[in-house]
Amino acid sequence: MFPTHRPRRLRQTPAMRRLVSETSIEPRHLILPMFVKEGATEPIPIASMPGVVQHTRDTLRKAAVEAVQAGVGGLMVYGVPQTHDAVGSGATDPNGILNVALRDLRSELGDDTVLMSDLCLDEFTDHGHCGVLDSDGAVDNDATLRIYADMAIEQARCGAHMVGTSGMMDGQVGVVREALDEAGYLDTAILAYAVKYASAYYGPFREAVGSQLKGDRKTYQQDPGNAREALRELSLDLAEGADVVMVKPGLPYLDILRVVADNSEVPVAVYQVSGEYAMVEAAAANGWLDRQRSIMESLTSLRRAGADMILTYWAAEVSRWLTA
Ligand code: PBG
Repeated sequence: MFPTHRPRRLRQTPAMRRLVSETSIEPRHLILPMFVKEGATEPIPIASMPGVVQHTRDTLRKAAVEAVQAGVGGLMVYGVPQTHDAVGSGATDPNGILNVALRDLRSELGDDTVLMSDLCLDEFTDHGHCGVLDSDGAVDNDATLRIYADMAIEQARCGAHMVGTSGMMDGQVGVVREALDEAGYLDTAILAYAVKYASAYYGPFREAVGSQLKGDRKTYQQDPGNAREALRELSLDLAEGADVVMVKPGLPYLDILRVVADNSEVPVAVYQVSGEYAMVEAAAANGWLDRQRSIMESLTSLRRAGADMILTYWAAEVSRWLTA
């Protein structure tokens, strides 16, 4: 009687498949990135990210409440300022849009969710780089760290539970940890973008934040072909005090995510970035992919590869599907 082994036995009924399923997604695993635009009087759609908007302060608050009601695990907030300058002053200004929005959200939501803030200068600089430039026009790592320290303290003061160090400067986690501790924010956590590749998949995000960047970020973000340095970045961020580590982007880097998950001592996040979102939305709009199944399959892949939590622009919608 061949075959003796019949794996299909466990696939015969929905109940059997549910029983043996290894990977699940719950709303608490999902973190919603949100954009808030300074001076906006109504939400502004982002053309390359259908369904995602630059919020006004008011619509941000409402959308955040809805996402939390849907059960998402956290919110990650990005500010889009009206003006930019060489040092990204809006990032450390207590009245800068991101800081104002953090205060709005913390007073609205208290501790009902985990409020996260992007700790990076690229939204605020007139050259669009994640740090400040030296006299030769190169990104000045250590001068940038001093600004990140101030930015971290301001974000913590404005109510962020967790700051997302996304700039890929060397030493950023250590400097931010020290600054937070010295300012008394011992319980403000750091979500370290430990492994972040110089990716084409950030394209739509640049529209979302009105990026001023010309050129690229290859002197600080990682080369897509390199796997080994992901482990080096991971161990540095762990040693510097990262509370959660992240891999970014998601789907093109599942191998990296698996290695990081296997070597991390702390929870692991992954960022399903704007380009991953845009690809599925565009194909679905053309009728080329089943939208809901593609979204769920991509999230399942990220969880299977080792992610504890996923930043995804679909966080609120998927949470509603999961609890419907
Ligand atoms: C930098 C930052 C970027 C993203 C999140 N934080 C852009 C970049 O590194 O160029 C991209 C997120 C996305 O594409 O969804 N602050």
